[in-house]
Amino acid sequence: MPLHVLQHPLAQHVLTHLRDKTTKPVLFRTLSYQISLLLALEATRDLATVEKEIETPLEKMKGRVLAKPLVVVPILRAGLGMLQPFPDVFPDVSVGYVGLERDHQTAIARSYYCKLPPLAGARVLVVDPMLATGGSAAQALTLVKAQGATEVGFICIVAAPEGVDTVQQAHPEVPIHAGVVDRTLNDRKYILPGLGDFGDRLYGT
Ligand code: PRP
Ligand code: URA
Repeated sequence: MPLHVLQHPLAQHVLTHLRDKTTKPVLFRTLSYQISLLLALEATRDLATVEKEIETPLEKMKGRVLAKPLVVVPILRAGLGMLQPFPDVFPDVSVGYVGLERDHQTAIARSYYCKLPPLAGARVLVVDPMLATGGSAAQALTLVKAQGATEVGFICIVAAPEGVDTVQQAHPEVPIHAGVVDRTLNDRKYILPGLGDFGDRLYGT
C-alpha cells in the first residue's frame, strides 16, 4: 500500500518546532495536536458515505453521512499525544488502546495492555507518533487484525525508512500516513534527525 506523506506547509512548520530540543512539553503537546489533526484529516479522506434524507429550514434534500464506524487505536504511551483530534472532529469515534514498550537494550517492543472495542466492519486507524524499527506498529497491526479489523490504516508523525519497510513487509495492505520520513536510525534505534523520545517530551519524563 502507498505511503502518504503530509504536504501542507503548516506540517513543516509544526514539525520544525516539534524537533527543536528547546520546545517545552506544554508547547510540544499543542504541536502534536495540530499535526495529528492534519494527519487525521488526510487519513480519512476516503471514508465511505451513504445518502441521508434531511430537511433544511427551507426544503427536503439528500445529504451524505459517514457510512461506517471509525475506531482509533493509540499505541501507549506516546500515541496518546495523537488521540484528541479524533474525538474532536469525529464525535462518534470509538477508542481502543494497545500498550507496547520498547526494551532499551534490544529495541524490541513488549506488549503490556490491550483493550479494543468491536472492530469488524469499522475503519480502524492505529496511531503512534514514531515509526522507528516498525516493530511496535507491526505488532499493533497484528493485534487489531486478530480482533477482527479488516480495513486498517497506520498514522505516525515521524517515520524512518526502516520502519516503513517493516510495516509494508508485514502488512502490505495497510496504508501508512506520515508527517515526514526521516533519514535513518542510529545504533540505539532512534530516528535521525528525529525529535528524540516522543513520550518523554510529551510528558516531561
Ligand atoms: C516509542 C514510540 C513507538 C516506538 C517506536 O515508544 O512511541 O511506540 O517507540 O519504535 P519502533 O518502531 O522501533 O517499535 P516507546 O517504546 O518508547 O514507549 P512509550 O510510548 O511508552 O514512551
Ligand atoms: N521512539 C521515540 O520516541 N523516538 C525515536 O526516535 C524512536 C522510537
